[in-house]
Amino acid sequence: MKIVDVLNQVGTPCYVYDAELIRNRYEKLQSHLPQGRSRFFFAMKSLSNLAILRLMRELKAGLDTVSLFEIQMGLQAGFEPSDIIFTPNVVHFSEIEAAVELGVGVNIENLNNLEKFGKKFGNDYPVCIRFNPNIAIEDQSSKKWYEESKFGIPYKKLGLILDLVQRYNIHVEGLHIHSSHVIMNHDILIKSAELMFQAALKFDDVRYVDFGGGLNPKPRKQEATDIVTIGKVLTTMLENYQHPSGEELQLRFEPGRFLVGEAGTLYVEATVLKKNGNVQFAGVDSGFNHLIRPMFYDSHHKIENMSNPEGRIEEYTVVGNLCEVDNFAKSRHIPTIREGDILAIHDAGAYGFSMSSQYNSRPRPTEVLLDGLEAFVIRERENFDDMVRNQVYRKINV
Ligand SMILES: Cc1ncc(COP(=O)(O)O)c(C=O)c1O
Repeated sequence: MKIVDVLNQVGTPCYVYDAELIRNRYEKLQSHLPQGRSRFFFAMKSLSNLAILRLMRELKAGLDTVSLFEIQMGLQAGFEPSDIIFTPNVVHFSEIEAAVELGVGVNIENLNNLEKFGKKFGNDYPVCIRFNPNIAIEDQSSKKWYEESKFGIPYKKLGLILDLVQRYNIHVEGLHIHSSHVIMNHDILIKSAELMFQAALKFDDVRYVDFGGGLNPKPRKQEATDIVTIGKVLTTMLENYQHPSGEELQLRFEPGRFLVGEAGTLYVEATVLKKNGNVQFAGVDSGFNHLIRPMFYDSHHKIENMSNPEGRIEEYTVVGNLCEVDNFAKSRHIPTIREGDILAIHDAGAYGFSMSSQYNSRPRPTEVLLDGLEAFVIRERENFDDMVRNQVYRKINV
């Protein structure tokens, strides 16, 4: 199948995902991380299309969710509640109550909600506690990042957690480590794991440690995660773990980017070539409303000129069409770009479409899933009706 035939039918801008690559990635995790002792919950915030969720279910992954609507989408895609974890951030306690009502796994990341949970559910509903591993880190910049991050309960508050657990007889079934794709690396993961394994001994019923996300597929600013080494270290740690109850530990991972990052490409068309000062701009029919990561995180995405792959290499700043500074890439060497050329912006599968918006009142793009020799539209391009759908003029009776 030629991608150009797909694009001729659906147009640009368009996200295209490769199902086979996602399957390969999943198998890679399964074969390197402790076999039979690991479970993988796809972090659906990275790519929340229902067709992708169904693919994950086909692979027997669970689902990591961060909102009630994500849980609902997971259920709609056919996941059992027991295969879904809810890891919200600073939410009202009512969201946690709703998640319990739906029967999904609950992860709590602050002491206030843990106390409310204890008061309401006591030992009736199991819970997982999300830690911030800031004391596991020697690297000062990472430590600062964690210390100033809103996520998780600092590990040094373990004593307070244990007090609450005892007071309300809370059934803690899992310990979770807040990680981050921004800085997670091998050393942090291993040191955090050591802390969690030690902490697990202080609870009666902990049966898993959840490493969250952060597995990094590609070396760039930070190292790629060496899952082979991590797998070996974790296997040894699992073997050495001995809880007085005899309970063995399982591991959980919540990969987003590792599974879908490289499987997604944003195809755009070059619309305008213009030179300002010394800068050669290649303008395209997309922007950070479709892929915000280069502007938000300074993420690097290889850009390929599909229409002129053998052209002379020139330097471009590839920009979007929003009325903002809107760069996809600065000073990038790409074969000569002409108006109408199709550019492929790679590694855009994770946090691409799912962070998109209608900014500048421009519609979100089409999404396509390639599976072997077949291609499927899995989300239609938005139209004007989508843009104005919820805009009303409804009087509020006050
Ligand atoms: C709780 C949790 N799970 C999973 C993920 C997914 O991370 P990644 O896409 O880097 O695998 C994140 C990322 O922020 C996270 O915070």
